[in-house]
Amino acid sequence: MIWGGKSPEDVVFIDKEHGFRLNQDIIADNTCLPIRLDLKIDSIVFDPPWMVSPPPWWLDKDRANGTRGDYFGEYDHKRSIVPYLFKAQKEFKRYTKRLCMKWGDDEIPLYRILGMFVKDGWSIVHQIDYKANKNSGGKSKTQNWWVVLDRILVNVHNQE
Ligand SMILES: C[S@@+](CC[C@H](N)C(=O)[O-])C[C@H]1O[C@@H](n2cnc3c(N)ncnc32)[C@H](O)[C@@H]1O
Repeated sequence: MIWGGKSPEDVVFIDKEHGFRLNQDIIADNTCLPIRLDLKIDSIVFDPPWMVSPPPWWLDKDRANGTRGDYFGEYDHKRSIVPYLFKAQKEFKRYTKRLCMKWGDDEIPLYRILGMFVKDGWSIVHQIDYKANKNSGGKSKTQNWWVVLDRILVNVHNQE
């Protein structure tokens, strides 16, 4: 959905679930990517689950055979989403210096999770808010965000 139905060239689409309208290139878990570490990945666009109780009409719209678990990866509690974000960003740091994350404030406000990224070595480059009415048929009042984070490079010599 994020690419409007067609991935641009040079984008590798990863998700751990099946049944997308746009088939992913790799079916994998973001917290343990089956990708060689020597590959240069310019940036990672991260569209994680941000809601534990999505409205039913989302499922019909976004998945061919949507079930509740399908859309948000079976995270049934806020406490399970946050550890997932933490593990995923740790994995992403091994691959890229730039992370572009989409977030919706519905159940967990952005400010509650950003500190975790900053503490773990990312700096916030952009934080752009937008209303979700375009991509959800005008039904959502969710405050959505795009956050661009850069990995802070640690200078080993300065640490000695
Ligand atoms: C908000 S949806 C985004 C879907 C997609 N970007 C789109 O636009 O249709 C969150 C997605 O994260 C996926 N997901 C959840 N946990 C995951 C994990 N550990 N590894 C990979 N994908 C995961 C879910 O399957 C779900 O499709």
